[in-house]
Amino acid sequence: MRSFIYYSRTAPTAGNYIKEDLQASGRIDIAIHSVIASFFLSHKIRTDTTLHMIFAGPPTPSRHLEIKPKTEGKTGEDKIYLSKKNVSDILKKMLYKYREGEKYEVFPGYWIEKMGFLELVDTLLDQGKKVYMLDNEGEDIRKADIKDDAVFILGDHKGLPQKEWKRLKQKCIPVSIGKRMYFASQTIAVVNNELDRREDGE
Ligand SMILES: C[S@@+](CC[C@H](N)C(=O)[O-])C[C@H]1O[C@@H](n2cnc3c(N)ncnc32)[C@H](O)[C@@H]1O
Repeated sequence: MRSFIYYSRTAPTAGNYIKEDLQASGRIDIAIHSVIASFFLSHKIRTDTTLHMIFAGPPTPSRHLEIKPKTEGKTGEDKIYLSKKNVSDILKKMLYKYREGEKYEVFPGYWIEKMGFLELVDTLLDQGKKVYMLDNEGEDIRKADIKDDAVFILGDHKGLPQKEWKRLKQKCIPVSIGKRMYFASQTIAVVNNELDRREDGE
């Protein structure tokens, strides 16, 4: 199992804030690309990945959206079908279905709750997971010791806020996919590829 945390300080926290213009909707387009890079292989959905997203934009920050799509069972009953076309609708529905005071499973494998970024990282650390911060100045991922059940943190188009970044540096291991700055979704694709190759003994 591997997990990603995508943090966005602009992604909206209410369904009606996601409009047709996805870029103008708090850069929700980046979150959508990150969902696609997390789960889609050619003709296959990954079952070894969990994506956590912290949306800290208006009107009511922060929301934690957790996605671990189910692939077994009947569509509409045991699972919902995740396709590249419907990611925006799914995120919108998750935001609409938020319920105060609970971690609500909107569809099988799709949860939403009120939770902040650092609280989520602390929760995963408390569960004994190793948390890596994706940072172009970190240790080269090709040489890094990556534990099973690793968690990787990424920022949005603005990166991670300075205050959070300083706090995380004390608890997380910075790893890099190279010196150049990539999109969050490209970074997820490269990390997934690196982990796949290790698993496949390449
Ligand atoms: C578009 S980048 C953020 C750009 C932002 N202007 C900044 O300076 O942080 C989005 C995220 O992808 C990850 N990322 C991008 N390039 C990376 C690299 N070479 N190595 C590791 N992570 C990278 C980082 O987590 C970053 O916050």
